[in-house]
Amino acid sequence: MQNSKQHSTPITTQNPRPKERAETGNLEKLLSDVGRGLDQYLKFDHPDALHPDNHWQATLDNTLPLQGVGIEQVTQDLISKIIPNGSAVPRPGFSAYITTGSTSIATLAAAASSISSPQRYMLTAFNYLEELSLQWLASMCGIGHLQGVYSSGGSVANLVALGGARQSAFEKTGYDPAADGINQPVRVYASAECHHTIQRAGGVLGIGRRAIRAIACDTEGRMMVEELRKAIIEDQSAGFLPMAIVANAGTTNTGAIDPLKEIGEIAKEHSIWFHVDGAYGLPGILDERINHLYEGLELADSIIVDPHKWLGASVGIAATFVRDRQVLQRAFTQEPANYLEGSVAREEHEENTIEHSMEDFGIPYFDYGVELSAPCRGVVVWGLIREIGVEGMRERIKRHNDMARDLAEAAKSHPNLELLLEPTLSVCCFRYIAPDVSDLDQLNRRLHRRLVRGNQYMPSTTQVNGVLALRPCYIGARADHSQVDGLLEAVLKIGKELETEYRRSS
Ligand SMILES: Cc1ncc(COP(=O)(O)O)c(C=O)c1O
Repeated sequence: MQNSKQHSTPITTQNPRPKERAETGNLEKLLSDVGRGLDQYLKFDHPDALHPDNHWQATLDNTLPLQGVGIEQVTQDLISKIIPNGSAVPRPGFSAYITTGSTSIATLAAAASSISSPQRYMLTAFNYLEELSLQWLASMCGIGHLQGVYSSGGSVANLVALGGARQSAFEKTGYDPAADGINQPVRVYASAECHHTIQRAGGVLGIGRRAIRAIACDTEGRMMVEELRKAIIEDQSAGFLPMAIVANAGTTNTGAIDPLKEIGEIAKEHSIWFHVDGAYGLPGILDERINHLYEGLELADSIIVDPHKWLGASVGIAATFVRDRQVLQRAFTQEPANYLEGSVAREEHEENTIEHSMEDFGIPYFDYGVELSAPCRGVVVWGLIREIGVEGMRERIKRHNDMARDLAEAAKSHPNLELLLEPTLSVCCFRYIAPDVSDLDQLNRRLHRRLVRGNQYMPSTTQVNGVLALRPCYIGARADHSQVDGLLEAVLKIGKELETEYRRSS
C-alpha cells in the first residue's frame, strides 16, 4: 500500500452534506448499477489488481473523510475502482487452494438477507430457511439423521465440532469442561494430512495444540488405521483421556478420503468421538462413482462441510453436524444476561400464542457455537440447492471430478508430464518433467510462478510424497473443461521455455 499522504485527493464538494440517514427507496437503481459492474467483472477481461500498470491505489482517497460524498459517489467508486480490482479467486481458471467465487444466487440471497433479515435469531422466513437448508444440506450429503449449525467457515466448524467432542469426553468422567476447564490431559487422533485448523481448535479449546496426535498416512494421503490403533493403545496406558478421532472426507492437499468405516469402527470400539472433516469433500458423495468411499459416515459423531467451497456459497458459510445439538449447547452456552431477560419470555398461559417474530428467538443457534450475532446463512444454501436441485449439484460435482481425471489422463500420456497421484475428487497433482533438469521442484516452482502471472490458469502447489506438485482443485461453478485444456497448454509452453533457459544456463 502506498503512503496515504501521497495519494490524498481533495474531498469532493459536489454533495457537501449528504443525508445522514440510511438511504431508503433507491436500492433498485443502485443495485442495478452495482450489478452491471459485477457483470462486467465476470467477463474477467481486467488486469490483476497488482499488475504493475494498474494504478487504482492512487485513485482512492485514503484520508479519513470528515464530510461524506453520498451514496451515489460511493457506489460509483465501487463500480469503477473497487470491483474491477477485486480478486482472482472467482476466475474460472483459478484453481488454487480450495476456494472460489460465489454464484449469482448466493450473492443475491446474501445481499437480500443483509437488509431484510440481518440476524439469524427471531422467527422470520429467513430463519425458517436456516433450519430447512441445514436439513436439505444434510440429506443431500447422506447425513440426514444429523442436526446442524452454521458458522463462518471450516475453521470455526471444526472448532465447534471439537467443542462437542471435548464436552462429551469429559462429561463421561463426570466433569463439565465448558464450565470448569479441563482437568486432565487429552488426546485427539488426527490424520497427518488433516487441516491445521484442527490443531488451532486444540489451542482454542484449552487442550493444547500438542494434544493433537498426528496419525501417519499412506502414499495416497489416507490415514493408516493400524497406526491409529497403536497410538490409542499407547496413550491409554499413559493415562490420556481420548477425546476425538479426526478423519478427512477430502484432504486439503490432495482430496484423499480416509477409510472412514474402519476408523469409525475403531472409534466405536473405544467409545471415542468420531469427527469427519468434509469441509471440501463431503459433497463428493453425490458422485455415485465414488460414493462407496464415504461408507462409514453414519458412524460419525460430527461432520463438517463448507458450502462456501464446492457448493458456490459466498465466503463465510460452513456447517457443523452432530447427532444431538444439546451437546453443543452444553459446550457453548452463554451465561444468562440481563439484556435478554424478558425480551422473549411469555407467560405460562401464553405458551401457544406467538403472534410476533420477537416473541421467539427460534432455534438457539447462538448457543450451539461461538457466534451470537451472525448472518442468515441458510437462505444462501437454500437458494443454491433450490436453484439447481440435488441433480444439478451432482452434475457440477461430477464435472469437476471429471476435470481432475481428464487432467490426470493427459499427464499420464504426455512425456513431459508426470501424474503424482490419481485423483480421488477434483484435485489433480502433477508436475512438469524434463530429462535434463535435475531439480524438478525448482523447475515446477518457477513454472508455477510464471503460470500465475499469466492471470488465466492459477493452480496452487503442494508436496506429494516429498515432491513439489502443481495442484489444481476444481470447485468453481464457472469452471469447465476448457480450463483443463488451457492449463495443460500453458504448463507445456512454460515448461518448454524453462527447459530452454536451463539448457542455456548450464
Ligand atoms: C479440509 C479442510 N478443513 C478445514 C478448512 C478450513 O476452512 P475455512 O478456510 O473455511 O476456515 C479447509 C480449508 O481449505 C479444508 O480444506
